[in-house]
Amino acid sequence: MAGIIDGKSISLQIKDECKDKVSKLKEKGIEVTLAVIQVGEDPASSVYVNNKKKACEYIGANSLSYQLKEDSTQEELLKLIDDLNNDEKVDGILVQLPLPMHFDEDEVIRRINPDKDVDGFHPINVGRLSIGEKGFVSCTPAGIIELLKRSNVEIEGKECVVIGRSNIVGKPMAMLMLRENATVTVCHSRTKDLHEVAKRADILIVAIGKPRFIDDTYVKDGAVVIDVGIHRPDPDSKKLCGDVDFDKVEPKASLITPVPGGVGPMTIAMLMNNLVNSKF
Ligand code: GUN
Repeated sequence: MAGIIDGKSISLQIKDECKDKVSKLKEKGIEVTLAVIQVGEDPASSVYVNNKKKACEYIGANSLSYQLKEDSTQEELLKLIDDLNNDEKVDGILVQLPLPMHFDEDEVIRRINPDKDVDGFHPINVGRLSIGEKGFVSCTPAGIIELLKRSNVEIEGKECVVIGRSNIVGKPMAMLMLRENATVTVCHSRTKDLHEVAKRADILIVAIGKPRFIDDTYVKDGAVVIDVGIHRPDPDSKKLCGDVDFDKVEPKASLITPVPGGVGPMTIAMLMNNLVNSKF
């Protein structure tokens, strides 16, 4: 039987720490402000954006909302980013992704001042992470490090296998685990023997985007298993599942994150953490 890593309660701890920091800043007359931009009205994006605004409210930060029409242009969005970059009252700028098809996302990300890039997506921040400099780190992988540390998982010297190599999760995750002195392997769709590699892991981090793909045959006895996936296995199902087949893996793992309530809540908590830490 594995211990369950409670992402909901750890994310609340982090938001409460942010709230304390914000109130200390307020005593000195310093405000913290996040600008959130949504283009179009994708319902899933609207839910995320609303949750980000609610988190700002919870910690006592200001949030400024910008809603652009689905058919607005790249130039309009870039102009808004330029204005927010130049606005001294704005500490963080977040453009909710994905953008409608006619936008060039890379150009949009690069336009955000790296020192306001609370998502940690700008190439400057990716570079800072890879050479161990201070900068904003992508929220989901940063949240996973917090989950591990606050669950007293020792990382140094451990075999860590990351399955998935996305720019937002897999690659920064590998960099962060390396920074914590783990021995890191990154697997992807062309990995020859995924079973063999995954079974080496003391810490297995799964971000492949396939529902319940990783079962017990990929997991070493006593491994710590972190599941980044979130899926609705069929359209009518109310229950969510991850990339890991929880029922099969849980008996073998020493610690595991559930879906929902594991990695998911950490992303917004770490966004708040990035926002507040921009003031220190
Ligand atoms: N879309 C899905 N996840 C994210 C995220 O973490 N940041 C932004 N900006 N867009 C997203």
